[in-house]
Amino acid sequence: MSSLEADLEELAGIGADDGGVSRFAWTPELQAANEWLLARLDELGLEAEVDPAGNVVGRWQTGEGKALLLGSHLDTVPRGGRYDGALGVCAALEAVRSLRYDGVEPNRPVWLVSFNDEEGTRFRTGMLGSRAFAGECELADWETRGVPEAMREAGFEFKRLGDASRLGEVGAYLELHIEQGPRLEREGIDLGIVTGIVGLLGFRVRFLGEANHAGTTPMELRRDALAGASRAVLALRDEARAREGMTANVGLIRIEAGGFNVIPGEAEFTIDVRSPTAEGFSRVEGFVHETLTNIAAEEGLDLDLAQTQRLDPVPLDPSLQDTLERAAAAEGASSIRLPSGAGHDAMVLGRHVPAGMLFVPSRGGVSHNPSEFTPPEQCELGTRVLARAVRDLVS
Ligand code: HGY
Ligand code: MN
Ligand code: MN
Repeated sequence: MSSLEADLEELAGIGADDGGVSRFAWTPELQAANEWLLARLDELGLEAEVDPAGNVVGRWQTGEGKALLLGSHLDTVPRGGRYDGALGVCAALEAVRSLRYDGVEPNRPVWLVSFNDEEGTRFRTGMLGSRAFAGECELADWETRGVPEAMREAGFEFKRLGDASRLGEVGAYLELHIEQGPRLEREGIDLGIVTGIVGLLGFRVRFLGEANHAGTTPMELRRDALAGASRAVLALRDEARAREGMTANVGLIRIEAGGFNVIPGEAEFTIDVRSPTAEGFSRVEGFVHETLTNIAAEEGLDLDLAQTQRLDPVPLDPSLQDTLERAAAAEGASSIRLPSGAGHDAMVLGRHVPAGMLFVPSRGGVSHNPSEFTPPEQCELGTRVLARAVRDLVS
């Protein structure tokens, strides 16, 4: 078994959850994964720390100028797969190992990072670690509910998030990641060179109607919050189906009071809508507001709508795309350029420094699922290409 496979295997055992992996920000499971990474960085001889935002940062202070930063994330969605994020961290470790093993002396510092809370699983604080690292620390109030307490329990101080900002010392960022989509496998292509990352909008919606008797309340008098939520789910799905590149998802829903013979008086649910272009992104935002307002009026419901995430679409650096493409060709790998429908820390870094991403195929395009899988030889190939691109960028 290669060291890459062994690393992935070990990490998959940290926060193992019924066939998948559950490692959330500020929890002991992610803490254990961070400890695992600190030990690997120590073996590599890199100075390593966990910064005030919970990011694990390893520094190979060599050469001069701004650092080349490599990495991804070790936190996961609930019962996620073993490759999302972890592969990028392990591939970065492998790339640094190969440089050191071959006695390469980089002409610039090489840093390795595992960003905290990329997924935002617990508090909808997606990419909190990379945003703090990038100095983007003006968090909206809906992002902070519960976060200071969770940070304190884990030994961190919320007010010190801003101290994690080290962006001024970073010159470029590279991240290897699974595609989390079907295209590379379907087209039989080894690697994806990412051209840009989709914009993400998140909302928390509450429809407030009236709990009432399921048998005696005439249908035309009901203020059924779940009926409103159901209309919203289908309206968003139909709009996304009709618009190129747009996606819409309702991943969490809760109703009150919850009785088989009680009309739901309250429905709270999340909305995740995305679009790859700035124009599509602004249109999606308007659509969500208009649709929910109309449904509330027609169903006699009150609407409480809060935005919980906003990450604008980000183009990735063309010259890094060229570097990755050359490295792929040099390793005999086929590659195509494609946009990312998933959000990544690279979209935060990419707003400030040149950022590049390399995708390896996902079996069946499946991700955020315990069955997430990429064959070892494809993980290895992607890692070799990343290492070659790094070598190119530090020579
Ligand atoms: O939601 C995403 O696209 C990423 O997995 N955080
Ligand atoms: Mn993910
Ligand atoms: Mn990811």
